[in-house]
Amino acid sequence: MRGRQLGDLLPRETAERLRGEIETCAATSQPIRYEQTSELDGEERVFEVALAPVPTADGRSVRVVGSARDLTERRKGEQQLRQAQKMEVVGQLTGGVAHDFNNLLQVVKGNLELLSAELAPVMTPAIAKRLRDAMAGTDRGAKLTRQLLAFSRRQPLAPKPTDVGALVAAMSDLFDRTLGETIEVEITRDPGGWTALVDPAQLENAVLNLAINGRDAMPGGGRLAIAVRHLAAGAREGERIAISVTDVGCGMPQSVLSRVFEPFFSTKPEGRGTGLGLPQVQGFIEQSQGRIAIESAPGEGTTVRLFLPRSHAEAAPEADAEAPPAPAQGERILLLEDDDAVRSSVADLVASLGYDVTAVGSTREAVALLESGRAFDLLLSDVVMPGSPTPPDFARLARAKSPDLKVLFMSGYAENVIVHQGRIDADVHLIQKPYRKDQLAQALRGLLEGPPASVAAEAAAPLRILLVEDEPLIAMSLVELLTSFGHSATEARNASTAKKAIQGGEPFDLLLTDLGLPDDDGAALAEWCRRERPGLPVVFSTGRDGFEAPPAIAEGGRFAIVTKPFDAATLRDALEACAGRRG
Ligand SMILES: Nc1ncnc2c1ncn2[C@@H]1O[C@H](COP(=O)(O)OP(=O)(O)O)[C@@H](O)[C@H]1O
Ligand SMILES: [Mg+2]
Repeated sequence: MRGRQLGDLLPRETAERLRGEIETCAATSQPIRYEQTSELDGEERVFEVALAPVPTADGRSVRVVGSARDLTERRKGEQQLRQAQKMEVVGQLTGGVAHDFNNLLQVVKGNLELLSAELAPVMTPAIAKRLRDAMAGTDRGAKLTRQLLAFSRRQPLAPKPTDVGALVAAMSDLFDRTLGETIEVEITRDPGGWTALVDPAQLENAVLNLAINGRDAMPGGGRLAIAVRHLAAGAREGERIAISVTDVGCGMPQSVLSRVFEPFFSTKPEGRGTGLGLPQVQGFIEQSQGRIAIESAPGEGTTVRLFLPRSHAEAAPEADAEAPPAPAQGERILLLEDDDAVRSSVADLVASLGYDVTAVGSTREAVALLESGRAFDLLLSDVVMPGSPTPPDFARLARAKSPDLKVLFMSGYAENVIVHQGRIDADVHLIQKPYRKDQLAQALRGLLEGPPASVAAEAAAPLRILLVEDEPLIAMSLVELLTSFGHSATEARNASTAKKAIQGGEPFDLLLTDLGLPDDDGAALAEWCRRERPGLPVVFSTGRDGFEAPPAIAEGGRFAIVTKPFDAATLRDALEACAGRRG
């Protein structure tokens, strides 16, 4: 570079400043150090410039020696670290808030359920609607906390070996329904069906989130390409599965792209965007040992890629709707429903499944049928009907006559609780209205193939439960729920009271404990109880997430985890599964 002018090498402003600084350095004989940002080859770079005066041999003047160090990469690294630290703090904060919020929701939800049971005798459509609306509010709250927990990577996940390509391909109907007609979806996948160890429901949710973002980026409609590719192992990573979602929409400028993972960052109008989509997807994918990458440019569309490590476990067989239930073998079903239109459509549906249906419109007719000596394998009944006996009472009557009769109630939400509360016979099953045909088919099959009702009913004796919960409001509603299931509860507010109850020799069938107790950890308490009472079933209730039962608990007997806020049915299922009364 000898003999060249500064201005030839550097942008004009940079060169001018440098010349000035050199003059100052020479004039003052003081070293100078400063930072300079310049655009070089179209990229902004940061330099640290150091100038030092060196006296000439004769000592009468100075030469200035200078150096410049490129700090760009280091600055980028620092910036990323700061961003990561910020996200870490935000994550801890939201995780903490979500945890407390879940506790509050549990209180509200539990009380609403109890309230609707208590209001059953005076239930009017208006009251039912208010209860439903309030309940829907708690559900939305629960959804929001779930998103926040996902973002803070503390969402409870249920990973299973999953055929990712098949999962995405099976979403095609869902895309058609949610994205609308103006969006054309094209799904491609590599053959061979690699699996990843991932929570399938959450993966679906993540892909759907990306597809919806793609739709929003193409307000005039367009094409959305979704691809599942198998990636061979590279130098730094093993085999991976990549899911890409590509739109030809508006794209993002750098200023948006750099913020998309911030929670609540959204460019969409109030009410359209929550700004939780991408943070949730990122949290989930990283919690699943994967990675997310986005490529986007204004006007050129966007590609979001999710990478998941390949797993060599066999994909779990699809347990739900996919596999049609075993065909009916002409089992006899008594259908009890007072609404003519509903009765005839349900009768058609049940008959189309291959069952032998007898339909009646009142419990009185049903009683007459029984008395005439007709026998049935299953009673499918509405819950609330005018006249007496009530359907639950009729079911009891019928069961007294033929103990192996299976009972399936069809109920809307408010009625749901009535049944749970009004009964001691725990072996009543419910299908929630509105249900789909396959759900009904599944429920009927499950019941008819399950153990004889008489055995199940015997198993459903009341449980003596040791309940450890420090939040008085939650404890209160839990006790009521447990009693409404027909169980009895001994309450303890902390671990030491619970231990005393155990040492006192009180008989317990099950321990139901919160994880965060004032004087100990719920898991540690459970381990202690297991040592005192080997095999004691344990149900953990937690607002904390990603909790895994300690090995001593997992291996030494039955246990379950319910995540707050949970509803009555979830708790009941957990108790039953734990007490060994399922399957
Ligand atoms: N496919 C996309 N094309 C263009 N912009 C996108 C795309 N996906 C996300 N964005 C931008 O990222 C922002 C954050 O996305 P997200 O976290 O899903 O929240 P929301 O969709 O609720 O706004 C969006 O508001 C939008 O500006
Ligand atoms: Mg979104």
